[in-house]
Amino acid sequence: MPIRRLAARERPTISFPLQAYAFEASPPAASRVDEFCAYLPYNAGNRTLVVEESGATVASASAIPMRQNLRGQVLPMAGVAGVATHPLARRRGHVRALLHQLLDEMRDEGHPLTALYPFRASFYERFGYVGLPQPRTAVFSPADLAPLLTAELPGTLNWERIGAGYPTWRAFTERCLAERHGFAVFPDFRAIGLRDRDDRWLVTVVRDGGTVGAVTYRIDDHGGELIADDLLAADPYARASLLQFFARHVDQVARIRVRLPADELPELWLTDLAVDVEARIARPGTPAPMARLLSLDALAGLPTGAGRVTVELVGDRWLAGTHLLDGATGQLELLGAATAGSGVPTATLTAAGLSALAYGVLDPAEVAIRGLGEVSADAAVELRRIFPRALPYLFADF
Ligand SMILES: CC(C)(COP(=O)(O)OP(=O)(O)OC[C@H]1O[C@@H](n2cnc3c(N)ncnc32)[C@H](O)[C@@H]1OP(=O)(O)O)[C@@H](O)C(=O)NCCC(=O)NCCS
Repeated sequence: MPIRRLAARERPTISFPLQAYAFEASPPAASRVDEFCAYLPYNAGNRTLVVEESGATVASASAIPMRQNLRGQVLPMAGVAGVATHPLARRRGHVRALLHQLLDEMRDEGHPLTALYPFRASFYERFGYVGLPQPRTAVFSPADLAPLLTAELPGTLNWERIGAGYPTWRAFTERCLAERHGFAVFPDFRAIGLRDRDDRWLVTVVRDGGTVGAVTYRIDDHGGELIADDLLAADPYARASLLQFFARHVDQVARIRVRLPADELPELWLTDLAVDVEARIARPGTPAPMARLLSLDALAGLPTGAGRVTVELVGDRWLAGTHLLDGATGQLELLGAATAGSGVPTATLTAAGLSALAYGVLDPAEVAIRGLGEVSADAAVELRRIFPRALPYLFADF
């Protein structure tokens, strides 16, 4: 089947309409094509592949060149988006062919990681992806934050529109990228869409000349909600400063709604805080993200415990072979299986199984239970040392 890479200028008439049909209310107004043209700059550096049949485009898929932190190392990551097939051409293998070629190309260009938001997780599990945690949404009354109003907290707050504060916000997300496992950011050409839409307030916490906390938000109405995006805080003081800022809205909004990483526990923030915490996964509509390794290069040099295990990788287009994973030096080394010697246990893993361990989302026993590999008790002990559980926080929403 003929697959072609689209030139950027072709997107408004070829791939955007196909994606809009799949992901938006339709049919669209005729003026929508002008709006598609306005999206162009934010897609400039994406790779978009399409399948053509008798001169018509029947399927498309794009990859955004992003960066992601994997256990402390920041690596190029292919964010897969805009996967859609025309309804008359579905179930004919178009997307399978597109994904194969798209991921081949992104891997060859140096992206050892990839992530996406699936329409159905099992569809992408077959392509080696594994589920990551869904961010939580916490909803509470600003009145319950009252004890924070009198707290003496270090640092000062800056408040501005995101259009003005964007460089500060972007710099702080770069800091989070460097420090936080799983955190991913867009390339500049895509990230500046937030600045250009200018439809959020930005509040930042500044301490010793540096930003230590940031949150973007909007207010829907007087007596309504303050709807915040991700609460980004480098430490508990920064988080408390942002919550203190929310507390000052007590006579203005009924509720604060804020997105949190999966390891935040708002019930421990304050005494008497009544809070609803929700992680909603629905199909189709609100998926939890997924990710996978595209290359074993992603593992070399990762900080690790002193485990030693042979892994045999099976059933995948991109990850194959038998490798010794050696954590003896505290930095993971990948060696030929022949160097293992006797007494080193072996695990058989699918790409999703290895990805689950690398991202820290599953214990080796869960990998086996989920059918993502065969892991003996001895191999599980070693794999736990090399890949201790960790909670990735993807952050970027695409
Ligand atoms: C989901 C969608 C992209 C699939 O495209 P497609 O071209 O029909 O997919 P393919 O024919 O390449 O399917 C690949 C495999 O997945 C299976 N598959 C396809 N759609 C599936 C579905 N909805 N559920 C489960 N399996 C599915 C196919 O049977 C095929 O299996 P095989 O490898 O055993 O032959 C398409 O239906 C679509 O555009 N849907 C609306 C938009 C959407 O949901 N996009 C995905 C966003 S992440």
